[in-house]
Amino acid sequence: MIKAATARARSNIALVKYWGKAEGTLNVPAVGSISITLDALWSDTEVVFDPALETDALVLDGERRPDGLVRVSACLDILRELAGVGTRAAVVSSNNFPTGAGLASSASGFAALVGAAARALGLQLEPRQLSIIARRGSGSAARSIFGGFVEMHAGAAPDGLDSYAEPLLAGKEWPLDIVVAVTSTGEKAVASGSGMRRSARSSPYHAAWLKTHQADMALCRQAIRTRDFEALAQVAEASCLKMHAAAMAAVPALIYFNGVTVECIGRIRQLRKSGVAVLFTVDAGPQIKAVCAPDARAAVRDALADMPGVVQIIETGLGPGVETRACPS
Ligand code: DP6
Repeated sequence: MIKAATARARSNIALVKYWGKAEGTLNVPAVGSISITLDALWSDTEVVFDPALETDALVLDGERRPDGLVRVSACLDILRELAGVGTRAAVVSSNNFPTGAGLASSASGFAALVGAAARALGLQLEPRQLSIIARRGSGSAARSIFGGFVEMHAGAAPDGLDSYAEPLLAGKEWPLDIVVAVTSTGEKAVASGSGMRRSARSSPYHAAWLKTHQADMALCRQAIRTRDFEALAQVAEASCLKMHAAAMAAVPALIYFNGVTVECIGRIRQLRKSGVAVLFTVDAGPQIKAVCAPDARAAVRDALADMPGVVQIIETGLGPGVETRACPS
């Protein structure tokens, strides 16, 4: 029998970054992280388990992507084992934003994959379990299972079962907006997984990154609990710059910023100094994500749209967790 379902999951951005992996093959992060889920950037994924298929298949944004199958099948295998079936699946996924450009398409993609596949197989899994399975595809995907403010726990168990995300605060409890300034759509950066491995192996600052991370997590949790934007800005920007400093000192160097990224960072710092509630963060690509109070959004958008070299602006609020739908059989 053919079993199918669809899911929509949103992308997320980390305020305290995940950078570094624990030993082993379970894709357990070396550190926890805290993120916000973005409403307007999503992956829509359909998973069809079909007894006629001999292998899993993946179509991403209209193209066959056999290169992406290792991680996809790893997630599907876990779900197949839980459901006691061996049926292969056809996965068709699309993003409504640029794929692989540092906008966390793997986060939304794997969260949607796991949500849709579990639904298609009729598995009644807790969100926490979905998060553990999504982590196997991509560490940041564990966070996209949930909406609003989310904490990922690194965990310590050898089976990885305590390495999951959970909600910290609903988005409506502290509505924030995000203005993404896209500074390059083409350039392919070093993927975050390889970047963090290189950083751990060769950056003299990796140890300092690990050592100071717990304190950032505590400051960020506290800033969220007390809705203290200035405190959030301090810790989020520090975590972002620390991650990039460690990455830049790797051999060979990992420089994810371009000139426009740096100019935008300067502009955002200037805006905050002048009283606008806005902070910046940057992931494994040159895009700038400005997180701001809703009443600052127009000013932030106008300022970033004005920066030479910004090619696209995406605006969003905070979004929900993964949503799934069964397909009629
Ligand atoms: C810089 O989740 O993409 O965006 O687990 O190898 O798939 P893998 O890595 P991934 O790493 C995200 C790194 C980051 C920071 C973050 O989102 O926390």
